[in-house]
Amino acid sequence: MNLFETNRRRFLGLLTVSGLGITGISGLPAQENGVNESPLVDSPPVLQCPSETGITVVWAVRKSATGWVEFGTEKDKFDQIAHGEQNGLLPYQKQFLQIRLSGLKPNTRYFYRTATAPFKYITAYKFERGEPEFSNTYSFTTSGNNKENASFSVINDTHENQKTLKLLTEHLASLGSDYTVWNGDLVNSVENADQVVKAILRPADSPFAAEHPLLFVPGNHDYRGNWARELKLALPHWSLTDLRDQETTRNFAVRNGSLALIGLDTGEDKPDHHPAWAGLAKFEPYRVAQRDWLERTLNKPEIATAPFIVAFCHIPIFSSNPNANGGDTLEGWASFQRQAGNLWGPILAKYGVQLVVCAHQHRFHFDPATPERTWAQVVGGGGYSDKEQVTVIHGHVKSGKLEVVVDELRSGKELGHWTFEKRTT
Ligand SMILES: [Fe+2]
Repeated sequence: MNLFETNRRRFLGLLTVSGLGITGISGLPAQENGVNESPLVDSPPVLQCPSETGITVVWAVRKSATGWVEFGTEKDKFDQIAHGEQNGLLPYQKQFLQIRLSGLKPNTRYFYRTATAPFKYITAYKFERGEPEFSNTYSFTTSGNNKENASFSVINDTHENQKTLKLLTEHLASLGSDYTVWNGDLVNSVENADQVVKAILRPADSPFAAEHPLLFVPGNHDYRGNWARELKLALPHWSLTDLRDQETTRNFAVRNGSLALIGLDTGEDKPDHHPAWAGLAKFEPYRVAQRDWLERTLNKPEIATAPFIVAFCHIPIFSSNPNANGGDTLEGWASFQRQAGNLWGPILAKYGVQLVVCAHQHRFHFDPATPERTWAQVVGGGGYSDKEQVTVIHGHVKSGKLEVVVDELRSGKELGHWTFEKRTT
């Protein structure tokens, strides 16, 4: 049993205690405290925004708190601390703590635990502070291109369905891929912090991204609702490395081993002038900005030298159906995103991207590459209702080839299996 599995079982075991209504944590060593029965901590840590030298740890709290992350390269020897200071201030939050670990070594395993201390200001000079509560010990490995093997798993269109999330998180744990890409429509609409904690940070009460980082790709539903603009508290934007990227902080490019993973954002599924958006949408210029980001990114040495490049976006960007809704009409909604396909498709081809992984249609589909469109497109199933296909698309580089498999979890069947050769562009 690996560490992830050990922690997962310990975590699930503690949930059972909580389920009996036993909420106290006294008598347990601090490090053995689970998270869901704690009156203070409301989710396991969720690793996000990974790079060769950094990673962001996000976790939820039930009341105002401060927190930090202790870490190191030897198990239970936490000789470094990330305090999360910003402009001189340490964290003080009511719902989500976000701590960036930086200065890490590439392709290196780190052990870590979160510390959460209740904290409340009474007045500017008067406060209450409690003892810290520590999470279990978890580990992660930073990305790096000095290795060949690399892997990813993709889930999508979960729409807060806890039965679907249980199937998916169990399968993700068994696969143990380097990253989990959550390819949009995590919720029906974004309404409040509690909903986001339940559907995203502890789906089916699983520490699904405590050891294998989450790469979030927004779906159209993730842009709707009263709280959509606060989603970044739980799912942080990527930090700017170039001022030209200030409009595209949901886009990512992660190089790991032989693989480069590119995140694109198709946005909403109707035109910006649709009355449903009440004049508050500007996704069309956002897709144009992403075209420029994509071309700059594919020219970066760490991406340009990757033998395999896979891109992810929620709404498919190609349809072979001439009558398909391209998201540019007031009737219905997009089954594919025509503008994104027109803007990004030629660039993906020019730089030899091999595969685009999409979602949104709630049904598995595969479009093989053609001489004109040299990238293939695979669309995952959806888990909105209990009758839909629930898929995990997973890719692994082994022996110099990229293998991509689509598993359907209700039937236990494999829906597709392809092998990609190294890029020639
Ligand atoms: Fe969607």
